[in-house]
Amino acid sequence: MTRGRFIVLEGGEGGGKSTQARRLRDHLDARGRRVLLTREPGGSPLAEAIRELVLGSWPEGVDATTELLLIFAARAAHLHATIMPALEAGTDVICDRFVDASYAYQGAGRGLGAARVAVLEKLVLGTLTPDCVLVLDIAPELGVQRIAERGDNNRFDAESLAFMQRVRSAYLARAAAAPERYAVIDAARDVDTVAAELAAIVEALP
Ligand code: TYD
Repeated sequence: MTRGRFIVLEGGEGGGKSTQARRLRDHLDARGRRVLLTREPGGSPLAEAIRELVLGSWPEGVDATTELLLIFAARAAHLHATIMPALEAGTDVICDRFVDASYAYQGAGRGLGAARVAVLEKLVLGTLTPDCVLVLDIAPELGVQRIAERGDNNRFDAESLAFMQRVRSAYLARAAAAPERYAVIDAARDVDTVAAELAAIVEALP
């Protein structure tokens, strides 16, 4: 059985990532592929429970290392329960955020540094890497404006523009370092244009 393709959508806040993830799922579905849409943190019952912990507000706050460990604990559960079984059954997996988000948010945004993230990446993922990472790139100023219109905010949505700028730069740097696996998409454009570009990129994958 051919393994499914592991496709990840990434980007800062307000880039329309979750909408695009659904559009891409619908596109692949219409082409007759078996496809699973999932997200991080979350994507399995245990990982969704950890998501509640990590996105919640706590009296003592959530320090950066705790945040990193919780997210990787959720990722381990998600891989084990959802992602690996689907890929092995030949199903394409579209994941709304994955390990690049830890490099961008915890490594760069929170300032933990890439080396700490890399240790956990090796522990939890081993050699697994996504086949394709689609980075929906948007200027933080515009992203912030979009999430203000949406409501439904979490701890990360309240971060400063400087934080979001660090997140953006980290995504762009990671994409530039491995252009064969990453695509950067201008997410300031309208939803249909972005959806068509994502579909074309995924169609071209092996
Ligand atoms: P969510 O509401 O799903 O936000 P979005 O629609 O922007 O994806 O919340 C997920 C939040 O978790 C998001 O703000 C980024 C954060 N996050 C990290 O900080 N590190 C990670 O590794 C992941 C997967 C997410």
